[in-house]
Amino acid sequence: MTLSLPPLGTPLSDAALRVMLLGAGELGKEVIIALQRLGAEVIAVDRYADAPGQQVAHRAHVIDMTDAQALRALVEAERPHLIVPEIEAIATQELLRIEAEGLAEVIPTARAAQLTMNREGIRRLAAEELGLPTSPYAFADSLEQLRAAVDGGIGYPCVVKPVMSSSGKGQSVLRGPEDLQSAWDYAMAGGRVQLTRVIVEGFIEFDYEITQLTVRAIDPSSGEVSTSFCEPVGHLQVHGDYVESWQPQPMSPLALQRSREVAGKVTAALGGRGMFGVELFVRGDEVWFSEVSPRPHDTGLVTLCSQRQSEFELHARAILGLPVDASLREPGASAVIYGGVDAAALRFEGVAQALAVPRSDLRLFGKPESFQRRRMGVALAAGDDVEQARERARQVAATVRPRAA
Ligand SMILES: Nc1ncnc2c1ncn2[C@@H]1O[C@H](COP(=O)(O)OP(=O)(O)OP(=O)(O)O)[C@@H](O)[C@H]1O
Ligand SMILES: [Mg+2]
Repeated sequence: MTLSLPPLGTPLSDAALRVMLLGAGELGKEVIIALQRLGAEVIAVDRYADAPGQQVAHRAHVIDMTDAQALRALVEAERPHLIVPEIEAIATQELLRIEAEGLAEVIPTARAAQLTMNREGIRRLAAEELGLPTSPYAFADSLEQLRAAVDGGIGYPCVVKPVMSSSGKGQSVLRGPEDLQSAWDYAMAGGRVQLTRVIVEGFIEFDYEITQLTVRAIDPSSGEVSTSFCEPVGHLQVHGDYVESWQPQPMSPLALQRSREVAGKVTAALGGRGMFGVELFVRGDEVWFSEVSPRPHDTGLVTLCSQRQSEFELHARAILGLPVDASLREPGASAVIYGGVDAAALRFEGVAQALAVPRSDLRLFGKPESFQRRRMGVALAAGDDVEQARERARQVAATVRPRAA
């Protein structure tokens, strides 16, 4: 593998290594901070002003990232060496062209960004090309097709999701035929773009679910990309959004081995360098692939307190062609802090008491607007074991009280 990257240099000079983040939310903010520490020049792009990552970048731009022309114009103006997608909703067709022309390198690859923004692309790759175990699934373009797919083998309970959506939007669990109509209507309202296609998946009765953080980085001894696995991250989802995560999730040796096999295969097929969050369901020794993010994963926020190098530092290092250390430092946990109110700005009360919890830490993202169910911060805590860490993280989160300013 030959790196076409210039060496790290001096930001805001001709000797800068320039990185453009497409999406600058709380995950992008941490990637940007890691890049800034290594002296990269960082350009943060989002669809609204003062996004968290824009507050710590060298320059910020507000564009509609699904607009191919606007995206190209910005890339041509800024000439980044690396383009790092942080969200799914991007004009990935244009990223393919930008990459093919050699205008910039897309992380991990433009194809990976394109395949994973649509559930159909990544599911067909994982199940049909790679033969990975997944829930039974079908695609439907109408209520009638959906009914036929469920009757034809998927059965109940099952899950319906728009093919283009994230954070559980438009997603519902169906218990019987009486749920078909409302699930279809909800999916049509919740999709990211006007696309009438859904995936219906058989419901997996898992014991627990994990994110297998997997990083592809250049091994300096060989000059080749090598794959490292973080300890498994366990998490709890409510309404399709993660509310708590912890590391390491205890697993049977066979389930862990299978998880890493699945993660290794799907990340190798996507290629490139960087961090991937491979979502897996586990029951006993059985493992199912669910989906993968070709970038740091929200449940991996826990690694800010549990690993030597967080998933964000690992991503920054990997994309810059530097070696990585994916090892655990100590058991840790994260708990999400929601806005709890609809407000233009917040004040956080209770922060001092919260941080008096032993081995705790906090991220307040600085989002310019709060909603009831918007993630505005995250509590972090380390412990002697995962249980203690989880208890502490929950305590920190509960002690921080967002108030409308
Ligand atoms: N087939 C399934 N069987 C059982 N549970 C499921 C299934 N599909 C999804 N879920 C549950 O719903 C959660 C969200 O599903 P999924 O990851 O597909 O949606 P998403 O919108 O991409 O979420 P995010 O963007 O937050 O990762 C999963 O983490 C899991 O808890
Ligand atoms: Mg998911």
